Formats: sequence, C-alpha cells, structure tokens
Amino acid sequence: MLQPYFEWMENLPLSNTIRDSVYIYSVDQALHLVFLSVFAGAVLIVDLRLLGRGFSQQPVAQVAQDAQPWMMWGFLGLFLTGIPQLFGTAMKQYYSPMFWLKIDFLSVAIIYTLTIRRKVAMADETRVGPLWGKVVGFVSIVLWAGVAIPARLIGLIS
Ligand code: HEM
Repeated sequence: MLQPYFEWMENLPLSNTIRDSVYIYSVDQALHLVFLSVFAGAVLIVDLRLLGRGFSQQPVAQVAQDAQPWMMWGFLGLFLTGIPQLFGTAMKQYYSPMFWLKIDFLSVAIIYTLTIRRKVAMADETRVGPLWGKVVGFVSIVLWAGVAIPARLIGLIS
C-alpha cells in the first residue's frame, strides 16, 4: 500500500544526492546517534528515577520537568536526521521487517510517553505509589529499547 510513496522517496533527486555522497549519509548517521544519546539520556534519567534507582533527592516531577526539553530537542534531532536516511535508503527500509518493527514500537512509545508516562511522572508521588512508578518506568525502557534495537538491526538483517 505504501510502496508507491517509498518509490517516490527513493527516486527524488535529493535522495540520489544523499545516497551517492559518502559524507552526507555518514555525517547524518553520526548526528542521528548524537541525538540518540541526548534523547536516551533524558528518557533514562526519568525512568531510573521512577524505578527508584538514583536522583532520589529530587521529586520525580522535578526530574521529569528538567529532562523534558532535552527529550523534546533530542527527538526533534532524531526526526530531522532520520528523514534524510529514510529518503536515501527508502526501498531498503520498505523491505526491512526491522524498519517496520522500529516504526511500530516508535508509534506506541510516543503515545505512551506523552500520555501514561507523562501523567505518572508529573503526578504527586504519594498518590501514585512506588509500584506504579516502577512499572511505568520499566515499560518505558522496554518500549524505547524496542525502537533502538530493531533500528540497529536494519543494517544487519535484511
Ligand atoms: C523520529 C523518526 C526517526 C526516523 C525517520 C529514523 C530513521 C532511521 C533510519 C532510516 C535509519 C537507518 C537504518 C539503516 O539503514 O541502517 C536509522 C538508524 C537508527 N536509528 Fe533512527 N529514526 C528515527 C528515530 C529514532 C529513534 C527515536 C531512535 C531510538 C530511540 C532511533 C535509533 C536509531 C538507531 C540505533 C539506528 C542505527 C544506527 C546505526 O546502525 O548506525 N531512531 N533511523
């Protein structure tokens, strides 16, 4: 169903330029990983706090609020550096089960982070209780790992 769109992406002059340039593609890929570190750091700091593994001097809501701009800018960077890679290798991605697994996890992880996780992280800790905090932090780590691991496997499993 989406094949014509991927073929369109693959055949754009810009996509040819990205694909044919060793430097554009590799610098973009490196930047994707830089933004991944920023984003993953911001996500993990809150999840570890929810799990009760550190930063315990500060309330969860405070940690979540401080981490939020890093998470948002990190994600924007991931998106902006992910799109050129997608355009440059569109048909490879289209035929890669790992790419679609990454997209599936990404959709669920985004919704989860913006709804349940945000609500629990920002809530009064005495009302949420430590068990729910732990469950929410753990699920968040599993979902984002579910994005990153297939993403890494795209290049290894075809
Ligand atoms: C937001 C939209 C995103 C797009 C459009 C995107 C797109 C891509 C593409 C096309 C690749 C190249 C895969 C390959 O051919 O090897 C890639 C690599 C990768 N992405 Fe993303 N990505 C996005 C977000 C993310 C997020 C949120 C994460 C992690 C939480 C992530 C983690 C990675 C990793 C680990 C790699 C492998 C890098 C490598 O093997 O050198 N990406 N991404």
